[in-house]
Amino acid sequence: KTLRSIEEWRREYVRLKEQNYHCKIGLVPTMGYLHEGHLSLVKQARVECDIVVMSIFVNPLQFGVNEDFDRYPRDLKRDQALAAKLGVDVLFVPELGEMYPQEPLTAVTVSGITEVMCGQSRPGHFTGVATVVTKLFNIIRPDYAYFGLKDAQQVAVIQQMVHDLNIPVIIRPCPIVREEDGLAMSSRNVYLSAEERQQALALNKSLQEGKALIKQGERDTDKIKEHMKAMLLSQPLIELDYIDIRSFPGLKALESLDGVKGQVIVAVAVKIGRTRLIDNVIIDMG
Ligand code: PAJ
Repeated sequence: KTLRSIEEWRREYVRLKEQNYHCKIGLVPTMGYLHEGHLSLVKQARVECDIVVMSIFVNPLQFGVNEDFDRYPRDLKRDQALAAKLGVDVLFVPELGEMYPQEPLTAVTVSGITEVMCGQSRPGHFTGVATVVTKLFNIIRPDYAYFGLKDAQQVAVIQQMVHDLNIPVIIRPCPIVREEDGLAMSSRNVYLSAEERQQALALNKSLQEGKALIKQGERDTDKIKEHMKAMLLSQPLIELDYIDIRSFPGLKALESLDGVKGQVIVAVAVKIGRTRLIDNVIIDMG
């Protein structure tokens, strides 16, 4: 069932709650052009929710002026078929004017963890994400919402926002889904030429190397980053944005891993041709 307006969902919501007040609603927010990564979130939602809503909305607020908003891949027919196959109950696909009838004067800004990593090269991006996700939460009113750790900083931002603003939703972070050769699935992978696609494998490879160094006892984060950098830059089409090693989900900088407890994220962002790709690995330090 594809719904285009907030009003249609409101009516559906009332009907569902009248039938069963305790029914659990799960939301999977996406920008469409679905792949196995998105579908894994739906599968997780199916396990613990009665009603699974997927939103598809390419949110202009989170794209910078020189980014790919206009050429972001879109294919609703294909997305509808995939969503139906996996048992999505409702697709919420608002038009731009439904989400932003006027230029909004209100935004949700999470500070402290949005200036680093992707926030540094994409100023305003996480405010765009936090604002649209808040709107989707208020529109859909889900009990659970599912986010992929492919975008680990996004997960950290959403969790912080939900905590700080007492938004009544439970956030479920879900593992990264990869192609067989290790490339993290992304809607943006369709932009890659065969040669670019081959060189993109260096992202996951460098992360695996970084992880192995940590497991072997390396504690100097600069050394780990240097090693990863050399690997990435051995691919001539790769232009480095960042390599970072931080606590997760607090995203505190770590010079040394000595005595660090809890989770650590090793994250990379690169450009290959015109395409920006990110990937990460989260390591449990005990
Ligand atoms: P989008 O890039 O479409 O991703 C939708 C969700 O799918 C996000 O939670 C993302 O982390 C997850 N995802 C993408 N690739 C994945 C992979 N390989 N493995 C696991 N999960 C993956 O992220 C957005 O859209 C937007 O910022 C959004 C949250 C919808 C707000 O506009």
